[in-house]
Amino acid sequence: MVTRKSIGIGLMGLGVIGGGMAKALIGKPDTLSREAGSKLVLKKVLEKDLAKHGSLGIERSIFTTQFEELVTNPEVDIVVELMGGEYPAFEYIREALTRSKHVVTANKEVMSKHWSELLTVARDHQVSLRYEASVGGGIPLIAPFQEDLVANDISAIYAILNGTTNYILTRMAREGLDFSVALKKAQELGYAEADPTKDIEGVDAAYKLAILTTIAFGTEVRSEDVYHEGISRLQACDFRYARELGYAIKLLAIAKRSGNSIEARVHPVFIPEDSLLAKVDGVYNAIHVEGDLVGKVIFYGEGAGPRATSSAVVSDIIKIAQNINRGTTDIPRLPFASGRTVKPMDEIETRYYMRMGVADKAGVLAQISKILGDYAISISSVIQKETDPSTQIAEIVIMTHRAKEKAVQQALKKAERLAVVKEITNFVRVEA
Ligand SMILES: NC(=O)c1ccc[n+]([C@@H]2O[C@H](COP(=O)([O-])OP(=O)(O)OC[C@H]3O[C@@H](n4cnc5c(N)ncnc54)[C@H](OP(=O)(O)O)[C@@H]3O)[C@@H](O)[C@H]2O)c1
Repeated sequence: MVTRKSIGIGLMGLGVIGGGMAKALIGKPDTLSREAGSKLVLKKVLEKDLAKHGSLGIERSIFTTQFEELVTNPEVDIVVELMGGEYPAFEYIREALTRSKHVVTANKEVMSKHWSELLTVARDHQVSLRYEASVGGGIPLIAPFQEDLVANDISAIYAILNGTTNYILTRMAREGLDFSVALKKAQELGYAEADPTKDIEGVDAAYKLAILTTIAFGTEVRSEDVYHEGISRLQACDFRYARELGYAIKLLAIAKRSGNSIEARVHPVFIPEDSLLAKVDGVYNAIHVEGDLVGKVIFYGEGAGPRATSSAVVSDIIKIAQNINRGTTDIPRLPFASGRTVKPMDEIETRYYMRMGVADKAGVLAQISKILGDYAISISSVIQKETDPSTQIAEIVIMTHRAKEKAVQQALKKAERLAVVKEITNFVRVEA
């Protein structure tokens, strides 16, 4: 075993996380080199904006705008992709692996869409591809699933994987804010991007859930296999009613296994207000995992931000450096042998909260109950809320027992056609 004096890093993207990673490399060289066994040295930085070198005191000479220059540099052992987005990040990662560079990435979009191809290229070229920061920012998840929990048959994952939406939901719940006001406040504080679509529509959480589900259940689950629904339909009154009924509302990423099928879905959920996930507020993430041996485990921490995320990125770099120094490589496993398939959303079964505006007169409930009954949906409780005196429209809230998603969708469509139903204002799934 020959320990290398230094290991070269090629960084693609000196933005929020790239900057955080560079600061960690520059700021604590002794700790990192002690752990890695070699000095970790930035050899090349690929950026669109060459002026970025000044802010971190990185030598200007190592900056380039040309990917070729980075990937062909013989001094670069590990390519760290922190540009984000699908393209050209995917092509650059694939090219780096093909040229036998080890790769570290935080890119959930690329990993959830191109997992199998990238892992195969990494195997073919006997190099590592690590992506700990792609899910849960600084919270260790990928390594625990691949190493510490491997003795388990995982049966379920319930996770808050998006800090932006959790922050918005927390403010809506605590302050009675409407969605648009809470979103604006999140944007003012830098917790939501100018275009927040991927966060608020559940797309970001779906990318992350696809990665976790693939590892946990040994089946390739792509992001397009994950059903996702966002939080923009929720209103302040949903949080009031949820509280009255003993629930909190969270955007959950849920994966469950039963037999050979898997559920993988992201949507707002009523969860018991005394559950641990209900108490996860603000930008924090939490991941509840159920395994046959370990029982229930919860991971909790900062799911984003330059410091927390660079903890995961730099740890991945150190693991690769340690392997280089040992003369080994942790060749990625392709965890796709289980033969399990993702269940269509129509087939899932859960409880439901329904809120609707109805005519305030006798017999309305009987008509709605009849339709729900026709679809084998049984009601567990009905609450009549305020009636608007000017329109004579009353708001009612219905909680159901377990029912099939397809039946609920069909029944709601039919109920909406009743003359006495003015509007189905919302429905939310309940996990209890
Ligand atoms: N932010 C977080 O808290 C967080 C947490 C976990 C994981 N991640 C992941 O980490 C990655 C980076 O996120 P970030 O927040 O650091 O993004 P960011 O601040 O936008 O940084 C990306 C940087 O890469 C540069 N870049 C983009 N495309 C490039 C190209 N083709 N060539 C050269 N440079 C290019 C960008 O330059 P311009 O600005 O000039 O376009 C920018 O400086 C993403 O995959 C993200 O999902 C982020």
